[in-house]
Amino acid sequence: MKTVIKNIAELIQTEDTPRKWVAGSDMKSISTIKDAFVEIENGLITSFGSMDQWNGIEDWNNTEVIDAEGGMVFPTYCDSHTHLVFAASREGEFVDRINGLSYQEIAKKGGGILNSVEKLQNTSEDELYEGALIRLNELVQMGTGAIEIKSGYGLTVESELKMLRVIKRLKENTDVTIKATFLGAHALPKEYKDNKEGYMDLVINEIPKVAEEKLADYVDIFCEEGYFTVTDTERLLKAANKFGIKAKTHVNQFNAIGGVKASVDLGALSVDHLEEMNEKDFDALSGSDCMPTILPACSFFLGIPYGPAKEMMERGLPVALATDYNPGSSPSGSMNFVASLGCIQLQMTPEEVINATTINTAYAMGLEKELGSIAIGKKANLFITKPIPSYAYLPYSFGNNVIDRVMINGKIKK
Ligand code: NIG
Ligand code: FE
Repeated sequence: MKTVIKNIAELIQTEDTPRKWVAGSDMKSISTIKDAFVEIENGLITSFGSMDQWNGIEDWNNTEVIDAEGGMVFPTYCDSHTHLVFAASREGEFVDRINGLSYQEIAKKGGGILNSVEKLQNTSEDELYEGALIRLNELVQMGTGAIEIKSGYGLTVESELKMLRVIKRLKENTDVTIKATFLGAHALPKEYKDNKEGYMDLVINEIPKVAEEKLADYVDIFCEEGYFTVTDTERLLKAANKFGIKAKTHVNQFNAIGGVKASVDLGALSVDHLEEMNEKDFDALSGSDCMPTILPACSFFLGIPYGPAKEMMERGLPVALATDYNPGSSPSGSMNFVASLGCIQLQMTPEEVINATTINTAYAMGLEKELGSIAIGKKANLFITKPIPSYAYLPYSFGNNVIDRVMINGKIKK
Protein backbone atom coordinates (compact mmCIF):
# COMPACT_ATOMS: atom_id res chain seq x y z
CA MET A 1 0.00 0.00 0.00
CA LYS A 2 1.27 3.41 -1.04
CA THR A 3 0.29 6.67 0.63
CA VAL A 4 0.51 10.06 -1.02
CA ILE A 5 0.19 13.38 0.77
CA LYS A 6 -0.67 16.09 -1.74
CA ASN A 7 -1.52 19.79 -1.70
CA ILE A 8 1.18 20.58 0.84
CA ALA A 9 1.64 24.36 0.93
CA GLU A 10 5.27 23.91 2.01
CA LEU A 11 7.25 20.80 2.88
CA ILE A 12 9.70 21.67 5.65
CA GLN A 13 13.18 20.33 6.47
CA THR A 14 13.74 18.30 3.33
CA GLU A 15 17.12 16.64 2.96
CA ASP A 16 18.75 15.22 -0.19
CA THR A 17 22.07 14.26 1.36
CA PRO A 18 21.85 12.76 4.84
CA ARG A 19 23.51 14.80 7.57
CA LYS A 20 24.67 13.76 11.01
CA TRP A 21 23.58 17.04 12.56
CA VAL A 22 23.44 20.74 11.73
CA ALA A 23 25.93 23.00 13.50
CA GLY A 24 26.99 26.63 13.80
CA SER A 25 25.90 29.00 11.03
CA ASP A 26 24.46 26.07 9.03
CA MET A 27 21.64 26.09 11.57
CA LYS A 28 20.41 29.35 10.01
CA SER A 29 18.93 27.56 7.03
CA ILE A 30 16.51 24.77 6.23
CA SER A 31 15.45 23.36 2.87
CA THR A 32 11.79 23.49 1.96
CA ILE A 33 9.65 22.79 -1.11
CA LYS A 34 6.56 24.85 -1.87
CA ASP A 35 3.41 23.22 -3.30
CA ALA A 36 4.73 19.74 -2.57
CA PHE A 37 3.88 16.04 -2.26
CA VAL A 38 5.31 13.16 -0.23
CA GLU A 39 5.00 9.46 -1.08
CA ILE A 40 5.22 6.75 1.54
CA GLU A 41 5.49 2.97 1.39
CA ASN A 42 5.82 0.52 4.28
CA GLY A 43 6.05 3.41 6.73
CA LEU A 44 9.03 4.99 4.96
CA ILE A 45 9.35 8.08 2.77
CA THR A 46 9.94 6.92 -0.81
CA SER A 47 9.64 10.16 -2.75
CA PHE A 48 8.94 13.87 -2.33
CA GLY A 49 9.06 16.97 -4.48
CA SER A 50 6.96 19.74 -5.94
CA MET A 51 3.47 18.93 -7.26
CA ASP A 52 4.52 19.68 -10.84
CA GLN A 53 7.16 16.91 -10.62
CA TRP A 54 4.65 14.40 -9.29
CA ASN A 55 3.96 11.39 -11.54
CA GLY A 56 0.40 11.02 -10.28
CA ILE A 57 -1.20 7.83 -9.09
CA GLU A 58 -0.19 4.64 -10.91
CA ASP A 59 -2.38 2.16 -9.05
CA TRP A 60 -5.60 3.60 -7.63
CA ASN A 61 -6.46 0.33 -5.86
CA ASN A 62 -3.26 0.36 -3.94
CA THR A 63 -2.88 4.04 -3.06
CA GLU A 64 -4.24 6.07 -0.19
CA VAL A 65 -4.42 9.80 -0.89
CA ILE A 66 -4.17 12.28 1.95
CA ASP A 67 -5.03 15.88 1.13
CA ALA A 68 -2.96 18.29 3.24
CA GLU A 69 -5.53 20.95 2.30
CA GLY A 70 -2.96 23.68 2.08
CA GLY A 71 -1.32 22.90 5.41
CA MET A 72 2.44 22.56 5.77
CA VAL A 73 4.22 19.28 6.47
CA PHE A 74 7.06 19.04 8.98
CA PRO A 75 9.03 16.02 10.19
CA THR A 76 7.73 15.23 13.70
CA TYR A 77 9.67 16.63 16.61
CA CYS A 78 12.21 14.35 18.27
CA ASP A 79 12.20 14.94 22.03
CA SER A 80 15.60 13.71 23.21
CA HIS A 81 15.22 14.32 26.96
CA THR A 82 12.18 13.37 29.07
CA HIS A 83 11.21 11.78 32.35
CA LEU A 84 7.81 10.67 30.98
CA VAL A 85 7.31 7.81 33.44
CA PHE A 86 6.27 9.19 36.83
CA ALA A 87 3.64 8.40 39.43
CA ALA A 88 2.20 11.80 40.33
CA SER A 89 2.29 15.51 39.59
CA ARG A 90 4.04 17.95 42.00
CA GLU A 91 2.04 21.17 41.83
CA GLY A 92 2.43 21.53 45.63
CA GLU A 93 6.12 22.33 45.05
CA PHE A 94 5.12 24.73 42.30
CA VAL A 95 3.05 26.63 44.87
CA ASP A 96 5.97 26.45 47.35
CA ARG A 97 8.17 28.11 44.73
CA ILE A 98 5.59 30.82 44.09
CA ASN A 99 5.73 31.43 47.84
CA GLY A 100 9.48 31.94 47.70
CA LEU A 101 11.28 28.59 48.09
CA SER A 102 13.88 27.61 45.48
CA TYR A 103 14.05 24.23 43.69
CA GLN A 104 17.13 23.37 45.75
CA GLU A 105 15.47 24.40 49.05
CA ILE A 106 12.47 22.21 48.25
CA ALA A 107 14.82 19.30 47.48
CA LYS A 108 16.65 19.79 50.80
CA LYS A 109 13.31 19.47 52.63
CA GLY A 110 12.81 16.04 51.04
CA GLY A 111 10.75 17.28 48.11
CA GLY A 112 12.00 17.36 44.54
CA ILE A 113 13.20 14.15 42.98
CA LEU A 114 12.82 12.22 46.26
CA ASN A 115 9.14 13.22 46.38
CA SER A 116 8.63 11.54 42.99
CA VAL A 117 10.72 8.56 44.14
CA GLU A 118 8.52 7.83 47.13
CA LYS A 119 5.39 7.96 45.00
CA LEU A 120 6.85 5.83 42.23
CA GLN A 121 8.05 3.13 44.59
CA ASN A 122 4.45 2.76 45.80
CA THR A 123 2.91 2.61 42.34
CA SER A 124 2.50 -0.60 40.35
CA GLU A 125 4.14 -1.21 36.99
CA ASP A 126 0.72 -1.38 35.34
CA GLU A 127 -0.40 1.95 36.75
CA LEU A 128 2.85 3.60 35.69
CA TYR A 129 2.44 2.16 32.23
CA GLU A 130 -1.15 3.39 31.87
CA GLY A 131 -0.23 6.92 33.00
CA ALA A 132 2.80 7.14 30.73
CA LEU A 133 0.84 5.79 27.76
CA ILE A 134 -1.81 8.50 28.14
CA ARG A 135 0.88 11.19 28.24
CA LEU A 136 2.71 9.66 25.28
CA ASN A 137 -0.45 9.67 23.14
CA GLU A 138 -1.04 13.31 24.05
CA LEU A 139 2.51 14.19 23.01
CA VAL A 140 2.07 12.49 19.66
CA GLN A 141 -0.95 14.68 18.94
CA MET A 142 1.30 17.64 19.79
CA GLY A 143 3.76 16.63 17.08
CA THR A 144 6.32 14.41 18.83
CA GLY A 145 7.23 11.29 16.86
CA ALA A 146 10.30 10.08 18.77
CA ILE A 147 11.10 10.37 22.45
CA GLU A 148 13.80 9.48 24.93
CA ILE A 149 12.52 8.42 28.35
CA LYS A 150 14.60 8.12 31.52
CA SER A 151 14.29 6.06 34.67
CA GLY A 152 15.53 7.80 37.82
CA TYR A 153 12.48 7.97 40.08
CA GLY A 154 13.01 4.42 41.35
CA LEU A 155 16.41 4.59 43.06
CA THR A 156 16.23 0.97 44.23
CA VAL A 157 17.20 -1.89 41.95
CA GLU A 158 13.62 -3.11 41.95
CA SER A 159 12.01 0.26 41.21
CA GLU A 160 14.55 1.34 38.61
CA LEU A 161 13.98 -1.95 36.77
CA LYS A 162 10.23 -1.38 37.11
CA MET A 163 10.59 1.99 35.36
CA LEU A 164 12.78 0.55 32.62
CA ARG A 165 10.24 -2.23 32.04
CA VAL A 166 7.50 0.36 31.66
CA ILE A 167 9.60 2.11 29.00
CA LYS A 168 10.20 -1.25 27.30
CA ARG A 169 6.44 -1.89 27.23
CA LEU A 170 5.87 1.54 25.68
CA LYS A 171 8.46 0.65 23.04
CA GLU A 172 6.79 -2.67 22.30
CA ASN A 173 3.18 -1.51 22.34
CA THR A 174 3.30 1.80 20.51
CA ASP A 175 4.69 2.80 17.14
CA VAL A 176 6.46 5.88 18.48
CA THR A 177 10.25 5.54 18.28
CA ILE A 178 11.47 5.37 21.88
CA LYS A 179 14.92 5.29 23.47
CA ALA A 180 15.37 4.30 27.12
CA THR A 181 17.91 5.78 29.51
CA PHE A 182 18.99 4.34 32.87
CA LEU A 183 19.21 7.24 35.33
CA GLY A 184 19.84 5.33 38.56
CA ALA A 185 22.17 8.18 39.65
CA HIS A 186 19.45 10.85 39.67
CA ALA A 187 19.48 11.60 43.42
CA LEU A 188 20.84 9.96 46.54
CA PRO A 189 18.09 7.92 48.22
CA LYS A 190 17.49 8.67 51.93
CA GLU A 191 18.82 5.25 52.99
CA TYR A 192 22.20 6.14 51.44
CA LYS A 193 22.36 9.68 52.84
CA ASP A 194 25.80 9.07 54.36
CA ASN A 195 26.97 6.42 51.94
CA LYS A 196 27.19 7.80 48.43
CA GLU A 197 29.92 5.34 47.45
CA GLY A 198 27.63 2.50 48.45
CA TYR A 199 24.86 3.90 46.27
CA MET A 200 27.19 4.40 43.30
CA ASP A 201 28.28 0.75 43.71
CA LEU A 202 24.65 -0.29 43.60
CA VAL A 203 23.98 1.71 40.43
CA ILE A 204 27.10 0.47 38.70
CA ASN A 205 26.31 -3.12 39.64
CA GLU A 206 22.94 -2.74 37.93
CA ILE A 207 24.50 -1.97 34.56
CA PRO A 208 25.25 -5.60 33.55
CA LYS A 209 21.61 -6.58 34.13
CA VAL A 210 20.32 -3.50 32.33
CA ALA A 211 22.62 -4.34 29.41
CA GLU A 212 21.82 -8.04 29.37
CA GLU A 213 18.04 -7.47 29.34
CA LYS A 214 18.46 -4.61 26.84
CA LEU A 215 16.50 -2.37 29.17
CA ALA A 216 18.39 0.82 28.35
CA ASP A 217 19.98 2.39 25.30
CA TYR A 218 21.84 5.02 27.36
CA VAL A 219 22.90 5.87 30.92
CA ASP A 220 22.53 9.23 32.63
CA ILE A 221 23.64 10.88 35.89
CA PHE A 222 22.72 14.18 37.55
CA CYS A 223 26.19 15.72 37.89
CA GLU A 224 25.53 18.65 40.20
CA GLU A 225 26.38 20.05 43.62
CA GLY A 226 24.36 18.14 46.20
CA TYR A 227 23.74 15.25 43.80
CA PHE A 228 26.64 13.46 42.04
CA THR A 229 30.24 14.54 41.44
CA VAL A 230 32.45 14.55 38.38
CA THR A 231 34.23 11.50 39.83
CA ASP A 232 30.89 9.68 40.15
CA THR A 233 30.13 10.67 36.56
CA GLU A 234 33.44 9.28 35.31
CA ARG A 235 32.93 6.04 37.22
CA LEU A 236 29.46 5.51 35.81
CA LEU A 237 30.36 6.36 32.22
CA LYS A 238 33.42 4.09 32.26
CA ALA A 239 31.32 1.23 33.62
CA ALA A 240 28.63 1.78 30.97
CA ASN A 241 31.18 2.07 28.15
CA LYS A 242 32.37 -1.47 28.97
CA PHE A 243 28.92 -2.64 27.88
CA GLY A 244 28.87 -0.40 24.83
CA ILE A 245 26.29 1.92 26.43
CA LYS A 246 26.79 5.63 25.82
CA ALA A 247 25.74 8.40 28.14
CA LYS A 248 23.40 11.38 27.97
CA THR A 249 24.11 13.38 31.08
CA HIS A 250 22.43 16.05 33.22
CA VAL A 251 25.15 18.67 33.63
CA ASN A 252 25.52 22.38 34.44
CA GLN A 253 21.91 22.95 35.51
CA PHE A 254 22.79 25.07 38.54
CA ASN A 255 26.61 24.93 38.67
CA ALA A 256 29.44 24.30 36.20
CA ILE A 257 31.52 21.69 38.01
CA GLY A 258 33.27 19.95 35.12
CA GLY A 259 30.56 17.49 34.10
CA VAL A 260 30.64 18.58 30.45
CA LYS A 261 34.30 17.72 29.95
CA ALA A 262 34.02 14.46 31.85
CA SER A 263 31.02 13.44 29.73
CA VAL A 264 32.60 14.48 26.42
CA ASP A 265 35.89 12.75 27.26
CA LEU A 266 34.03 9.53 27.96
CA GLY A 267 32.12 9.62 24.68
CA ALA A 268 28.71 10.89 25.82
CA LEU A 269 26.17 11.27 23.01
CA SER A 270 24.72 14.42 24.56
CA VAL A 271 25.14 16.76 27.51
CA ASP A 272 21.87 18.24 28.66
CA HIS A 273 20.69 21.36 30.58
CA LEU A 274 23.77 23.65 30.23
CA GLU A 275 22.19 26.65 31.91
CA GLU A 276 25.59 27.48 33.45
CA MET A 277 28.48 27.27 30.98
CA ASN A 278 32.10 28.39 31.30
CA GLU A 279 34.99 28.55 28.85
CA LYS A 280 36.20 25.04 29.73
CA ASP A 281 32.78 23.61 29.00
CA PHE A 282 32.64 25.25 25.56
CA ASP A 283 36.19 24.08 24.83
CA ALA A 284 35.33 20.51 25.76
CA LEU A 285 32.45 20.52 23.27
CA SER A 286 34.42 21.99 20.38
CA GLY A 287 35.30 19.33 17.83
CA SER A 288 33.52 16.60 19.77
CA ASP A 289 30.67 14.28 18.71
CA CYS A 290 28.59 15.28 21.72
CA MET A 291 25.29 17.16 21.22
CA PRO A 292 24.78 20.13 23.56
CA THR A 293 21.13 20.04 24.52
CA ILE A 294 19.26 22.95 26.08
CA LEU A 295 16.00 22.52 27.98
CA PRO A 296 14.32 25.93 27.89
CA ALA A 297 10.99 24.81 29.39
CA CYS A 298 12.88 23.91 32.60
CA SER A 299 14.43 27.41 32.71
CA PHE A 300 11.00 28.92 32.06
CA PHE A 301 9.31 26.88 34.78
CA LEU A 302 11.99 27.20 37.48
CA GLY A 303 12.93 30.78 36.61
CA ILE A 304 16.60 29.87 36.17
CA PRO A 305 18.91 31.16 33.40
CA TYR A 306 18.49 29.91 29.84
CA GLY A 307 21.32 27.97 28.19
CA PRO A 308 23.50 30.04 25.82
CA ALA A 309 22.20 28.74 22.49
CA LYS A 310 23.46 31.68 20.41
CA GLU A 311 26.94 31.48 21.85
CA MET A 312 27.09 27.78 21.06
CA MET A 313 26.13 28.38 17.45
CA GLU A 314 28.57 31.28 17.17
CA ARG A 315 31.30 28.89 18.28
CA GLY A 316 30.32 26.51 15.48
CA LEU A 317 28.58 24.03 17.78
CA PRO A 318 25.26 22.32 17.10
CA VAL A 319 22.37 22.91 19.53
CA ALA A 320 19.45 20.63 20.34
CA LEU A 321 16.30 21.63 22.23
CA ALA A 322 14.19 19.15 24.23
CA THR A 323 11.36 19.36 26.78
CA ASP A 324 12.79 17.67 29.93
CA TYR A 325 9.15 16.68 30.55
CA ASN A 326 8.95 15.76 34.28
CA PRO A 327 6.68 16.61 37.21
CA GLY A 328 9.23 18.75 39.07
CA SER A 329 11.07 21.09 36.74
CA SER A 330 9.17 20.96 33.43
CA PRO A 331 5.62 19.63 33.59
CA SER A 332 5.02 20.04 29.85
CA GLY A 333 5.99 17.82 26.95
CA SER A 334 5.12 20.39 24.32
CA MET A 335 7.90 20.64 21.76
CA ASN A 336 5.94 23.48 20.14
CA PHE A 337 6.30 25.46 23.31
CA VAL A 338 10.00 24.58 23.45
CA ALA A 339 10.30 25.85 19.86
CA SER A 340 8.62 29.12 20.88
CA LEU A 341 10.94 29.50 23.88
CA GLY A 342 13.88 28.86 21.55
CA CYS A 343 12.85 31.88 19.49
CA ILE A 344 11.61 34.11 22.29
CA GLN A 345 14.10 33.39 25.09
CA LEU A 346 17.15 31.95 23.32
CA GLN A 347 16.93 34.41 20.39
CA MET A 348 17.12 31.56 17.90
CA THR A 349 15.58 32.02 14.45
CA PRO A 350 12.72 29.73 13.38
CA GLU A 351 15.16 27.88 11.10
CA GLU A 352 17.60 27.34 13.97
CA VAL A 353 14.79 26.10 16.17
CA ILE A 354 13.52 23.68 13.51
CA ASN A 355 17.04 22.22 13.15
CA ALA A 356 17.42 22.07 16.94
CA THR A 357 14.16 20.15 17.48
CA THR A 358 14.32 17.71 14.56
CA ILE A 359 17.65 16.62 13.07
CA ASN A 360 19.75 17.59 16.10
CA THR A 361 17.50 15.92 18.66
CA ALA A 362 17.35 12.88 16.38
CA TYR A 363 21.16 12.75 16.61
CA ALA A 364 20.94 13.10 20.41
CA MET A 365 18.93 9.85 20.43
CA GLY A 366 21.06 8.01 17.87
CA LEU A 367 18.26 8.32 15.31
CA GLU A 368 19.70 10.70 12.72
CA LYS A 369 19.59 8.00 10.03
CA GLU A 370 15.91 7.25 10.68
CA LEU A 371 14.24 10.51 11.66
CA GLY A 372 14.62 14.27 11.95
CA SER A 373 14.05 15.31 8.33
CA ILE A 374 11.99 14.60 5.22
CA ALA A 375 14.41 12.32 3.36
CA ILE A 376 14.08 9.21 1.22
CA GLY A 377 14.34 6.09 3.36
CA LYS A 378 13.55 7.87 6.63
CA LYS A 379 10.49 6.99 8.69
CA ALA A 380 7.29 8.73 7.63
CA ASN A 381 6.84 10.45 10.99
CA LEU A 382 5.49 13.86 10.12
CA PHE A 383 2.78 16.34 10.96
CA ILE A 384 0.40 18.32 8.80
CA THR A 385 -0.45 21.80 10.05
CA LYS A 386 -3.62 23.77 9.62
CA PRO A 387 -3.17 26.35 6.82
CA ILE A 388 -0.55 28.80 8.18
CA PRO A 389 1.01 31.82 6.48
CA SER A 390 4.64 30.72 6.91
CA TYR A 391 6.67 28.17 8.88
CA ALA A 392 7.71 30.88 11.33
CA TYR A 393 4.05 30.93 12.37
CA LEU A 394 4.61 27.65 14.26
CA PRO A 395 6.97 29.02 16.96
CA TYR A 396 5.32 32.47 16.71
CA SER A 397 1.86 31.27 17.73
CA PHE A 398 3.05 30.07 21.14
CA GLY A 399 0.62 28.07 23.22
CA ASN A 400 -1.73 27.56 20.26
CA ASN A 401 -2.09 24.27 18.48
CA VAL A 402 -1.60 24.61 14.75
CA ILE A 403 -1.00 20.89 14.17
CA ASP A 404 -3.91 19.29 12.38
CA ARG A 405 -2.82 15.67 11.83
CA VAL A 406 0.15 13.57 12.90
CA MET A 407 1.50 10.60 10.96
CA ILE A 408 3.64 7.92 12.61
CA ASN A 409 5.25 5.21 10.46
CA GLY A 410 3.06 6.25 7.56
CA LYS A 411 -0.24 6.09 9.49
CA ILE A 412 -2.34 9.05 10.65
CA LYS A 413 -2.78 8.80 14.43
CA LYS A 414 -6.30 9.38 15.69
O1 NIG B 1 16.13 17.38 34.40
N1 NIG B 1 17.76 17.90 37.13
C1 NIG B 1 17.46 16.74 37.33
N2 NIG B 1 16.37 16.09 36.93
C2 NIG B 1 15.19 16.66 36.39
C3 NIG B 1 14.27 17.17 37.44
C4 NIG B 1 13.61 16.06 38.11
C5 NIG B 1 12.60 16.44 39.12
O2 NIG B 1 12.59 17.54 39.70
O3 NIG B 1 11.79 15.56 39.33
C6 NIG B 1 15.57 17.74 35.40
O4 NIG B 1 15.30 18.94 35.60
FE1 FE C 1 16.00 15.97 33.01
